[in-house]
Amino acid sequence: MTDSTLTTINPLNGALDGAISVPGDKSISHRAVLFSAMAEGTSRLVGVLDSADVRASIDAVQKLGAKVSLEKQPDGSLLGGIEGWGSAGPTEPDGPIDCRNSGTTARLLMGVLAPWDIKVRIEGDESLSKRPMRRITAPLMMMGASFDPAGAETLPVTECGTRELRAITYASPMASAQLKTAVLLAGVYANGVTTVNEPSVSRNHTELMLPEYGVRTTAGERTASVEGPVIPHSAEISVPGDPSSAAYLICAACLRPGSAVQVENVSLNTARTGFLMTLEKMGADVTTRTTGSAGKEPYGIISGCYTPGLHGCEIPGHKIASLVDEVPVLSLVAAHARGITVFRNVAELRAKESDRLQAIIDTLAQVGVDAWNEGDDLYVEGQPGLQVPAGTVFDARGDHRLAMTWALFGLIGNVPVQVKGFDCVEASYPDFLSDFERLVK
Ligand code: S3P
Repeated sequence: MTDSTLTTINPLNGALDGAISVPGDKSISHRAVLFSAMAEGTSRLVGVLDSADVRASIDAVQKLGAKVSLEKQPDGSLLGGIEGWGSAGPTEPDGPIDCRNSGTTARLLMGVLAPWDIKVRIEGDESLSKRPMRRITAPLMMMGASFDPAGAETLPVTECGTRELRAITYASPMASAQLKTAVLLAGVYANGVTTVNEPSVSRNHTELMLPEYGVRTTAGERTASVEGPVIPHSAEISVPGDPSSAAYLICAACLRPGSAVQVENVSLNTARTGFLMTLEKMGADVTTRTTGSAGKEPYGIISGCYTPGLHGCEIPGHKIASLVDEVPVLSLVAAHARGITVFRNVAELRAKESDRLQAIIDTLAQVGVDAWNEGDDLYVEGQPGLQVPAGTVFDARGDHRLAMTWALFGLIGNVPVQVKGFDCVEASYPDFLSDFERLVK
């Protein structure tokens, strides 16, 4: 059941000004938890995001026999060890694994479980139970895993893996890092080289992190491979800040007069920073500076300043994967910009925590902004000087990225708005509102 509680979001009491760190990257945190659970020995993790989605992955690996001793730090992150099951494999849990709202947990877990002959029922909440899973089960079945029901499009599903996995070369129908990761994780235990080829580049955290666990990967422009079988060993992983969370602060700074924000220690992996390229194309004053790397993941500072006169732009289809989770907040920026912004080939938005394509169109219409789709392309006709009517009620539709995007209408505007079901921000950025408050000068 989606939450119908209304949260009032008041306009910020000034400009956004100063430096801040955002919580750990969600994609990297999930991978650190799952890969550590697969490994032999105890891995040490620093900066893990403490959010509802990552908790779903932590609970899942605990149910499967990994020993987790992560503790909450004063900065809100999780730090500590995970002792994996290694060559002994996971233990069959006595009940289902509930992935709740977390698509990354459910899909990556299917790859984690594929090499083991235990039966695991995987479930999710109402939203996750509507999201497509065939894209994951199909290649895993080619490798030898089985699922009950066999042709299930959605959760719940019971997976039974096999120790005799076949390595495959898979032509992925969509650019999805979740799909790519599930197949590569199964490939860790398959005999030979498992390769995933993609229509365009998706985030590459798996290819970058697996070698830390002793699993060799090779990666090219739209291809990634792993050679198995190999038992991952323990690793030390430090998780940089999440660029998808930083995007709300940077977009708000670009729109709120007088603002100048620096987000520090944030991942600058180019497979994730497409939103910055888009903001630049719109004329926004945004810059990045690399200050270090966590393993092979570059991190640094993203700066964003108020920029009057933003204009629309076109985002090509092959760049969408690098900003897929930022389309809602970029559509809000586009709604304030002069002219039309076109996001090409955003079909994947229909398969997220909600149908984000429809949600963007419906919600921008609510504030008088024309947005529409033609085929799989999204168009937004901006209105410079856009003022949101006081008391507008926005619906998060159970989707954290929508909740935070609609909240920006209140935070950067002049009148309070209300967001229905705002609490779902817990999925990725529980301290979203307090971080905004800390930056107000
Ligand atoms: C993710 C990949 C993306 C993204 C999701 C996290 C990941 O999904 O939208 O929030 O961690 O691999 P897809 O792989 O389905 O595009």
